[in-house]
Amino acid sequence: MKIIGGPASQLLASRTARALGTEPVLCEFNRFPDGELYLRIVDEIENENVTLIQSMPTDSDFVSLLQLIDACEGAAEINVVIPYMGYARQDKKFKSGEPISARAIARCINADRIFTINIHEKSVLDHFPCPARNLDAANLLGEYVAGFGLENPMLVAPDEGAQELIKNVASGQGFDHDHLQKTRLSGDTVVIKTKSLDVTGRHVVLVDDMIATGGTMAESIRMLKAQGAIDVHLACVHPVLTRNAALRLFNAGVKDIIGTDTLEKAESKLSVAPLIAEALSER
Ligand code: R5P
Repeated sequence: MKIIGGPASQLLASRTARALGTEPVLCEFNRFPDGELYLRIVDEIENENVTLIQSMPTDSDFVSLLQLIDACEGAAEINVVIPYMGYARQDKKFKSGEPISARAIARCINADRIFTINIHEKSVLDHFPCPARNLDAANLLGEYVAGFGLENPMLVAPDEGAQELIKNVASGQGFDHDHLQKTRLSGDTVVIKTKSLDVTGRHVVLVDDMIATGGTMAESIRMLKAQGAIDVHLACVHPVLTRNAALRLFNAGVKDIIGTDTLEKAESKLSVAPLIAEALSER
């Protein structure tokens, strides 16, 4: 198996290759003078089984993934791992005239097998033109949170959409868990409905699939601290952390922020490489 990391997933591809006992294939990434993307796979991949690992936080990363798939045309088998899939939150038309962006993107990505990690909405998998499977980093997150060594922590999801995730993260470790209720007012403003949780004197770990602008978590942190939590930690699968998200969260009084390396950020303290390596090894 040849592992090829796209520009957004160089570290994760290297870690996955190591977990599989191989070396990642070298690629060159560049831009033409007019800004168009260029890439070249330096190794020989003719008739090989290849796995491309490339998150898509930006439009350019989507184009790079399409280029990588095309460059692998001589491979015997192409697996594509999309650790973070951008546009997955536009999984339906919220207003008339909108595209289903997640569908538009998924339809363009064809391979022998596709893997995503905690994709925002699982129904998006049906839009890929080939078999697609979602991997769940919940156990890894649960183990990592257990490593905080907090006494009797309470795990809280900021909205109903994260209920399944919080249940899976908490249950492996026997942690208490609950969820809040969120209403989104705009791209970066949310209202968290006050809900009485018995968090007085408890360490709280807020868990979500992603933190983007930080609006959801900032509101949740304020509410939980006002209700008596000793401290509030954040754990997510995808640390998008766009614009001034980290500052907003620290202003709200967060203790610490951790995410996985589906996106390569300073907060990506936990690797999903073992999850990918295990899925690739299964047949
Ligand atoms: C939405 O349902 C997601 O699970 C996250 O809660 C959301 O995307 C976080 O966005 P933000 O950090 O911008 O509030």
